[in-house]
Amino acid sequence: MSHTRTSLLAALALVAGTSGTALLVGQAGAATSAVPCTVDYKVQSSWDTGFTAAVTITNNAAAKSAWQVKWAYAGNQRITNGWNAKITQSGADVSAANENYNGSLPTGGSVSFGFNGSYSGSNSVPATFTLDGVACNVDNGGGTGGGTGGGTGGSTGGGETGGGTGGGDGGDPGNRVANPYTGAKVYVNPEWSAKAAAEPGGSSIANQPTAVWLDRIVAINGVNGGMGLRAHLDEALKQKGSGELVIQIVIYDLPGRDCAALASNGELGPNDLDKYKSQYIDPIVSILSESKYAGLRVATVIEPDSLPNLVTNAGGTPTTTDACVTMKANGNYEKGVSYALDKLGNIPGVYNYIDAAHHGWLGWDSNLGPSVTQFHKVATTNGASVNDVAGFIVNTANYSPTKEPYLKVTDTVGGQTVRQSKWVDWNQYVDEQSFAQAFREKLVAAGFNSGLGMLIDTSRNGWGGSARPAGPGSQTTVDGYVDASRIDRRIHAGNWCNQSGAGIGERPTAAPAAGIDAYVWVKPPGESDGNSAAIPNDEGKGFDRMCDPTYGGNARNGNNPSGALPNSPLAGRWFSAQFQQLVRNAYPPLS
Ligand code: GLC
Repeated sequence: MSHTRTSLLAALALVAGTSGTALLVGQAGAATSAVPCTVDYKVQSSWDTGFTAAVTITNNAAAKSAWQVKWAYAGNQRITNGWNAKITQSGADVSAANENYNGSLPTGGSVSFGFNGSYSGSNSVPATFTLDGVACNVDNGGGTGGGTGGGTGGSTGGGETGGGTGGGDGGDPGNRVANPYTGAKVYVNPEWSAKAAAEPGGSSIANQPTAVWLDRIVAINGVNGGMGLRAHLDEALKQKGSGELVIQIVIYDLPGRDCAALASNGELGPNDLDKYKSQYIDPIVSILSESKYAGLRVATVIEPDSLPNLVTNAGGTPTTTDACVTMKANGNYEKGVSYALDKLGNIPGVYNYIDAAHHGWLGWDSNLGPSVTQFHKVATTNGASVNDVAGFIVNTANYSPTKEPYLKVTDTVGGQTVRQSKWVDWNQYVDEQSFAQAFREKLVAAGFNSGLGMLIDTSRNGWGGSARPAGPGSQTTVDGYVDASRIDRRIHAGNWCNQSGAGIGERPTAAPAAGIDAYVWVKPPGESDGNSAAIPNDEGKGFDRMCDPTYGGNARNGNNPSGALPNSPLAGRWFSAQFQQLVRNAYPPLS
């Protein structure tokens, strides 16, 4: 954002102006071999009260096996937390020492670390730095910003040494566990819990964990006096006690949000990438980085539907929309997601899970391959690294079953594959767990970490109640068999809004199956998917007729009726009738 650039330039001017009093300051681009070390201190982003900075030290003297950098602030900057160095501050004096994994600093080698800080007034770049007590040249001019290619991404979070080891652990702050859900409680959102408990039958699920949706900028501080991010994190610390706890946060405010539907359109226009970064992601990162929250495990669900829309709805298909074409062309979904992964991935307690739609959207090979390519691209560009990705989530806010107990994609009827049924329509999968496990393998094969874990949103995919089949259907025709066997009672697997007949699904569970980190409830049961008729609002939300039960459908649901419940409120608002239906049709049933 230009505001940031302006303040950085002002800060640099200040440094240059006072350089006469400081040692070897402000000689960006000068020959550096004469000085024992150079320090590059960059304010990467800043906002009213906080900033993020990255520091790279280059050692021009003898090789070191440990190092310590020191500087003093001229203003009231306070470092709130850092990564890839042990940072301490006493008054204005800051000391940053190596972690045990990045102490090695060969002659000519570099090492980087970063931190978040608070400030008021001016946030000028410190005038002098020392490395192990020896004064360094400062190299924070604009000259280094440009053509460093692949090196710039990993360098802020990587802690990698300058030489040949790049990429090995770029972006990984270190001590994450393999599966954050193992051995941990999951945060119960008190606001959702109270609404659930107030419904008939609601007390049976009101103590279940659900995700916190940050669906617009004001949600960070709390909408209309409701809980903001800090309030949730403070409450999470209470619920955590002395054990481990995961709090689930949905990152959901991309420019041009929800390009293939209208119900969850957002506040940011297609070109508002700078605003997304500086007014949405940066403040979230700043809060999550506060040291008092360092003990929390934060599972972030990154931007539901965005990248899948680029794969299937952004050109050359019958499902293409103009809005998705725009978002593909301007690159702002990709840049926004990369930025979110990079910045959130710098925080040691954060586990990023990228949204990967559901089997009824991406389950065809012709969609799956391009999806893997798309995900890998955003996880390796614009500063993001595969180490910023803990895993992927499927079925977010959708209704696809975790398992179809009576129907397999390999079933045949009279020698004909069920894949040719209207329902399956040549998909390779009929349920989410098989889809997630197969998808995971493909992602790892494409270059994601082998420890990748999948989440499945099971909040509303139970499909119990009287319409649930009790066993496989009889082998009449392919369509007859499939329709009688499937527990998914939707009219079409592309239907997504307030589905009639749906029920609560599997309760949140850690490590329920191979490759699956957890079953989670991301979409809070009882919150509407969208309004069934137009409703004026100030959230940018549109009226999508897929939420209108009288609608005959579009290309994305094979021109079938929407299957939506009537009389629904705006997306995210409480929808009592839906909640009560979900409880009635829960599977496994609620006791
Ligand atoms: C929808 C809404 C959003 C809400 C979320 C969870 O996507 O657009 O406002 O927070 O669902 O209910």
